[in-house]
Amino acid sequence: MSGLNDRMAAKREVKRIKNLPTVPGIVAKISRLVENPETSAAEVGRLITQDQVLSAKVLRMANSAFFGMSRKISSIAQALMILGFDVVKGLVLTSSVFDMIQKSMAGLWEHSIGCAAASGAVAAALGRDDAEEILVAGLLHDLGKVVLALNMPEEMGLIKAKVEKEDLFFYEAETAILDYHHGEIGQWLAEHWNLPESLAEPMRLHHHPERAVVYPEATAIVHVADVIIRGWGFGYAGDPLVPPVSMAAWDLLGLKVTDFPAILDMLEPKLSNLAELTQAGSVE
Ligand SMILES: [Fe+2]
Ligand SMILES: [Fe+2]
Repeated sequence: MSGLNDRMAAKREVKRIKNLPTVPGIVAKISRLVENPETSAAEVGRLITQDQVLSAKVLRMANSAFFGMSRKISSIAQALMILGFDVVKGLVLTSSVFDMIQKSMAGLWEHSIGCAAASGAVAAALGRDDAEEILVAGLLHDLGKVVLALNMPEEMGLIKAKVEKEDLFFYEAETAILDYHHGEIGQWLAEHWNLPESLAEPMRLHHHPERAVVYPEATAIVHVADVIIRGWGFGYAGDPLVPPVSMAAWDLLGLKVTDFPAILDMLEPKLSNLAELTQAGSVE
């Protein structure tokens, strides 16, 4: 019972967090606009363009190695046209929380962009036409850890110590101490920020992809990408372990071992180009 109470209290706490963002202002406005079927790309573009720093960051991300576009995206309007509303919304959000992710935990930003690139590569290898959306889910998948690091530093210290002492996965140590983990925090944040379920579900369930019901494939892809990028040793997710790939996720996606050389080949140049994006966040 107290577990439930703790969970409710934590959820309230997450909802009360004020110093998290600068995010919600603009992102909430963009979300509202995007949900209205009457909204045009020009209107969304105008709103984003009002914030020049944000626009610059979004354009840098849109032009980064992530998407591997053959032509340069030079305006927000063009980014919206090529990448779609949801992807640009995800980029706006990511650009806004960039500093936060960087400040939260050493290596988490690199883990996040690495997981994004890996999510995009797996999705592309599977021939999915929503590879960009899934990439954004990969980018945001561990956002719950940011809340933990910035707003619950005491608990974070206990979790880190438990990870080290007992050789646990980060989410296992979180669950042992808090009775919930960063996936759930990510979900609460997604609700609070009015993010689409296509982002919220992978954020919540990337460690338990077999439980996904609305976007099981996107969730499975982010899960596999998380394992790949941990195995690669790119960035740091809070523990040094590489979990096994969930068999349910593997079967659902119809992945074969022989798919991996192509995925890794696609990923390698992206990872070596990601340094550019690490600087991108701290745009003047
Ligand atoms: Fe995670
Ligand atoms: Fe992760």
